[in-house]
Amino acid sequence: MRRKVVKIGFIGAGSIGSLFGGYLASIHSDENPLELSFFGRRDHVVAINKEGLRLTVSDKDIFLKNIKAYEGVKDFTGSSEIGEFYKFDFLFLTTKAYDTERTMIQFKSLIESSNWFIILQNGIGNEALVKEYCNKNKILRIVTSHGALLEDYGHVFHTGVGFTKIGFAYLKPDNSNVSDYGRAEESLLFLKNLMSAGGLQTEFVEDIIKCSWEKVFVNIGINAIGALTGLKNGQLLENSSLRKLMGKAVKEALEVAHVKQINFSNRDYVELMYSVAKKTYDNKNSMLQDVLKGKPTEIDFINGRIVEFGKKLGVEVATNELLTVLIKGLESSF
Ligand SMILES: NC(=O)c1ccc[n+]([C@@H]2O[C@H](COP(=O)([O-])OP(=O)(O)OC[C@H]3O[C@@H](n4cnc5c(N)ncnc54)[C@H](OP(=O)(O)O)[C@@H]3O)[C@@H](O)[C@H]2O)c1
Repeated sequence: MRRKVVKIGFIGAGSIGSLFGGYLASIHSDENPLELSFFGRRDHVVAINKEGLRLTVSDKDIFLKNIKAYEGVKDFTGSSEIGEFYKFDFLFLTTKAYDTERTMIQFKSLIESSNWFIILQNGIGNEALVKEYCNKNKILRIVTSHGALLEDYGHVFHTGVGFTKIGFAYLKPDNSNVSDYGRAEESLLFLKNLMSAGGLQTEFVEDIIKCSWEKVFVNIGINAIGALTGLKNGQLLENSSLRKLMGKAVKEALEVAHVKQINFSNRDYVELMYSVAKKTYDNKNSMLQDVLKGKPTEIDFINGRIVEFGKKLGVEVATNELLTVLIKGLESSF
């Protein structure tokens, strides 16, 4: 049996990065031992290096002592056992979408030398930003509906169980030669199986960009309106004017997606968004949580993207434009 160490890194290890990294760290394999590195903020880094990562799932705690954490590239390459020639097999980007460009510049050397670069963020069009700094054929995207919360430094909660999908952002069988695509697919399936083995059941999809839009339709209807009103997801549905506004925002996004020729099924995405709001009745959506903490939001990658695309394509996007302007106004008051 050939033993191969698999090197995995998370840049921007906060809530979702620590959750995915934590599940991966829980895998014990003699054939493919994992070497996990987190890049994050000082307090979280110090807590992990001192006590390990605590992952709470339901009422159970899992303590993971096999993760090394760093604040940045210098801290990493300067550590005696690593050195500057270290090459990640899989390097994840788990910052908020608005931190993408800054982070790509800061971690350029590690991203360039990595085999695969995986965007694990919400939002549409994130891959177009990333490809400015990285070979586009090695970009993967993950879309997940799992929920995570960094409750304290070194301690992440799995707050909601959901689905995880993975796919190539750009690489397709018809835009690469057959053996290149075959090898790439093998690597992707290896990662998919690894995540499933860790406990995050993952599905390989051919059109991950479509999946990123499908998830954003829900965010487009709920997030900004929840953040502006302070209402929980389910409460939004009880106000008929707000409910109508949520539907209008999603219908505009659907029209933009249609003109952009994103290939959707005949699913009713407005009803889907309403049903998610109902199912998550007591949740304060992530944008509302950001606003309550006085932090920036991901509006530019959600409603803001619809405005940007809609204007270019001549599609009416007045509702999304108003929501974007209002959230930006709110952010400027922090
Ligand atoms: N949390 C969830 O349940 C969930 C679920 C699905 C998808 N997502 C998506 O996943 C992405 C990440 O969300 P999150 O909730 O995990 O955010 P988060 O908890 O804020 O984690 C991101 C972390 O990255 C840090 N960071 C930013 N730039 C960095 C840099 N250059 N170097 C090192 N650390 C850096 C941030 O620090 P600062 O805060 O100090 O900047 C923060 O600790 C978002 O796109 C979100 O929409 C989240």
